[in-house]
Amino acid sequence: MPQNKPLNSNFSHAPKRKEILSEEEKKLALKNALRYFDSKFHAELIPEFKQELEKYGRIYMYRFRPDYEMYARPIDEYPGKCQQAKAIQLMIQNNLNPAVAQHPEELITYGGNGAVFQNWAQYLLTMKYLSEMTDEQTLVMYSGHPLGLFPSHKNAPRVVVTNGMMIPNYSKPDDWEKFNALGVTQYGQMTAGSYMYIGPQGIVHGTTITVLNGSRKIDSNGTAGKLFVTAGLGGMSGAQPKAGNIAGVVSVTAEVNPAATYKRHEQGWVDEVISDLNELVKRVREAKEKKEVVSIAYDGNVVDVWEKFDEENIYIDLGSDQTSLHNPWAGGYYPAGISFEESNRMMAENPELFKEKVQETLRRHAAAVNKHTAKGTYFFDYGNAFLLEASRAGADVMAENGIGFKYPSYVQDIMGPMCFDYGFGPFRWVCTSGKPEDLQKTDDLACEVLEGIMKNSPKEIQQQMQDNITWIKGAQENKLVVGSQARILYADSEGRIKIAKAFNDAINKGEICPVVLGRDHHDVSGTDSPFRETSNIYDGSKFTADMAIQNVIGDSFRGATWVSIHNGGGVGWGEVINGGFGMLLDGTPEAENRLKSMLHWDVNNGIARRSWARNDEAIFAIKRAMEDEPLLKVTLPNLVDEELL
Ligand SMILES: NC(=O)c1ccc[n+]([C@@H]2O[C@H](COP(=O)([O-])OP(=O)(O)OC[C@H]3O[C@@H](n4cnc5c(N)ncnc54)[C@H](O)[C@@H]3O)[C@@H](O)[C@H]2O)c1
Repeated sequence: MPQNKPLNSNFSHAPKRKEILSEEEKKLALKNALRYFDSKFHAELIPEFKQELEKYGRIYMYRFRPDYEMYARPIDEYPGKCQQAKAIQLMIQNNLNPAVAQHPEELITYGGNGAVFQNWAQYLLTMKYLSEMTDEQTLVMYSGHPLGLFPSHKNAPRVVVTNGMMIPNYSKPDDWEKFNALGVTQYGQMTAGSYMYIGPQGIVHGTTITVLNGSRKIDSNGTAGKLFVTAGLGGMSGAQPKAGNIAGVVSVTAEVNPAATYKRHEQGWVDEVISDLNELVKRVREAKEKKEVVSIAYDGNVVDVWEKFDEENIYIDLGSDQTSLHNPWAGGYYPAGISFEESNRMMAENPELFKEKVQETLRRHAAAVNKHTAKGTYFFDYGNAFLLEASRAGADVMAENGIGFKYPSYVQDIMGPMCFDYGFGPFRWVCTSGKPEDLQKTDDLACEVLEGIMKNSPKEIQQQMQDNITWIKGAQENKLVVGSQARILYADSEGRIKIAKAFNDAINKGEICPVVLGRDHHDVSGTDSPFRETSNIYDGSKFTADMAIQNVIGDSFRGATWVSIHNGGGVGWGEVINGGFGMLLDGTPEAENRLKSMLHWDVNNGIARRSWARNDEAIFAIKRAMEDEPLLKVTLPNLVDEELL
């Protein structure tokens, strides 16, 4: 029994969770937690676990936090009988590294509640199983709980993860509160519970691609001198100015919380901070005129920027918003005309008035955006529920025919048709040696492969190829690595397979260390999410989850090293089913077979479904895939003449 120890005050800690269990259920939660320990320790642990449950709303078993430092070590330093299980230990420790994780001592990687495990006993037991298992066994993970090792075979996944899988009727937010407090399920987010998070790099890349493609929705004149106006310098939104710079625009990002603004400025994620609106107008005019690549933070409310730029006739090319409107009444969105401190007071002391002020501001916000879009601004919703909350506040954001909103979401207009439908998605890899020089070599290999493919690729995907070549060339310079030596880029099936094969060949020759492949779940095939990843599916099937489930099953028998399937991620518990995989490349011919078989399915499953939903770009992509692979035969849709209908 380890000594109990205080929490680390340098770390951010998860907020106290809602008190939801009855007295009987609290006993059940304790009983559940005690299952992990010999009964001789129970009397000592009961008061401690009871106190955790009362104080934090969860039993994290803080006493069992390991004393060693938490970070991804080189793969050879892990104990174990099989290389694949060592790779998984490395990825788990990366997700819990305090430099990477949001609330490391509560085992939360990102998104406030994206958990790797529910408690430290699960962590310890899982690491122990991984250090003992052979490649004739599979470890089964139920929402952080290691159910055990089961006999399987070499080509089976070493680990199968499920997170938050509920009977559908028990998938409301309060069900998560209750069953998580009982210790029987968890919110795995996307890459938290699947051991595939790589820090902020993924968001920077996704935002860069979005800004670049958003600019192309306007014209083909490039991004120089274009002005992008948005809000939020928080967790994910803080990537906007950096992405703006990589994309080559002038960006203005408003942020009401000075602590967030100055933190991003100190980190070098935003170039300049301006607190005066007149000064902002002057600086933006100058930057536009000189076609500077610069990111400016406005220390204040975004509504003031939209209104001021309208009065001053500053033309905004590209507009969006990344305030946290999925959480509008508790600090996700701040009303205009009221100071930050006063707002914080009001939301606690007079929540009704605060709600009125938020809604009033949302109406002003939308009205100002509408004035700009009337002048030609391209505005998109960034998956933060801006249009949804604005509509609930009675703002003028509904489409003229009354169906849907005036403005598209970033997936409907940009990510879906320009990336996912062609099979382009967030492919990533981690160098298991932990050496920057290995990452550099993999960057070079990936770049070479993409340049080779681009020479013969059809015009429809040339732009996506070029964007990712530019990205990978600048990746080292942009210093994006936090935690493990990882890289992300968007590639289609051909790109992913060829890059992976080039890595495997180089590993075989001893030029680089073994590599873990994976991806974000925010991808072509892995996620069914009607308001995000599959929001550009218009045949009614966006409320089904067959694609995500088929995907994980298919990946698991085609060679993934580990697979995962989650309820909740990004948009919330009960709103999305998403899955991912990890695959260790060790340079063997078996690894080559696995990567070819699995990556092909992992992309083409989604393209086939998107094509069946009549998405033109996906029909194009799946026909190409069938020409390349005679064993692929996909059912194609017949298109009906609208006139006949
Ligand atoms: N970046 C992406 O790829 C992506 C994708 C999908 C969804 N989102 C969504 O974007 C939103 C933001 O995510 P986050 O992690 O950055 O959240 P966050 O809460 O950390 O940051 C939001 C920031 O907005 C600021 N803010 C609130 N109201 C404001 C106002 N009126 N004017 C100026 N600033 C204001 C807040 O102070 C806060 O710092 C979330 O709803 C998220 O789901 C982002």
